[in-house]
Amino acid sequence: MGKGDTRNEDQPGGKRGEMIVVCSAKGGIGRTVMAVNLAVALTKKNIQIGLLDGSFQFGDVALALDLHPTFTIKDIAENIESMDRYTLAGFLIQHSSGVKVLAAPERPEYADLVTPALIDRACDLLLSHHDYLIVDTGAGLQEKTLQFIEKADQIFVLTTLEMTAIKNTKLMLETLEVLGYKDKVQLIINRSTMDSVIKAPDVPDILGVESTIYVPNDFHLVSQSLNIGIPFVMNQAKTETAKAIFKMAEQLISRREISLFQPKQASFIQQLFHKTSKNITSIF
Ligand SMILES: Nc1ncnc2c1ncn2[C@@H]1O[C@H](COP(=O)(O)OP(=O)(O)O)[C@@H](O)[C@H]1O
Ligand SMILES: [Mg+2]
Repeated sequence: MGKGDTRNEDQPGGKRGEMIVVCSAKGGIGRTVMAVNLAVALTKKNIQIGLLDGSFQFGDVALALDLHPTFTIKDIAENIESMDRYTLAGFLIQHSSGVKVLAAPERPEYADLVTPALIDRACDLLLSHHDYLIVDTGAGLQEKTLQFIEKADQIFVLTTLEMTAIKNTKLMLETLEVLGYKDKVQLIINRSTMDSVIKAPDVPDILGVESTIYVPNDFHLVSQSLNIGIPFVMNQAKTETAKAIFKMAEQLISRREISLFQPKQASFIQQLFHKTSKNITSIF
């Protein structure tokens, strides 16, 4: 049992986890690769990870993990009102890494069954019993992706160095800023070592961002990983691409640990002491 399991026991339904949404302006940028590998890399840290395939029409999280879902998010639509985190657990598919997956519907026409209310409830329940909820999304800023973005603690915006990707990522970042989400956005340049006219170190300036994460290009590694349905962080941990994902997981966890151990509000005694010591210093 992860150490977080005790934290929320007294408040079922309360938020425990941090929600990370993986999105990009264009398709084929590496969102699914990032979502599954990051989710698996985080489980190596002995914490509970939920993974939601929010690409409701053509989700391929299950494929990338070689899972054959019995249930998908559409199956919880009927009894969402009475659903609690224990019944929801029956609809999750456990990957061998420990990641719990809520899969996307098996056919694109079922995507309409996934309503905003269902998304809201599913995310809240998943967040109540996982330390992280990673959400893969469809390309662009569709309505359902915007719903995830609004709920997210962090928004990972992926781009590659291709001209069209950069152009559309700029538009996406501008839109997210207008919507007031700038502080939650983290830019990730995927395939950052690929041969391109635009060079990775120039991208932060082009896109006007301060912090950027670089994930190296490794076509053979990534395509083979997708083909066999084994995330490369599991069996190719020494590669530079896997190391970049582990570094991200490391940084996420250390940030989370710092925020968990920082007292959110001073206790009554601390407040009292603070007031008293202020009075004492003002005497001198
Ligand atoms: N770091 C990488 N290096 C090389 N190829 C990659 C990398 N990340 C993703 N790819 C390739 O990009 C393609 C799209 O990845 P995918 O995760 O399915 O994109 P998306 O979910 O954004 O549509 C895949 O064929 C995958 O092999
Ligand atoms: Mg995808």
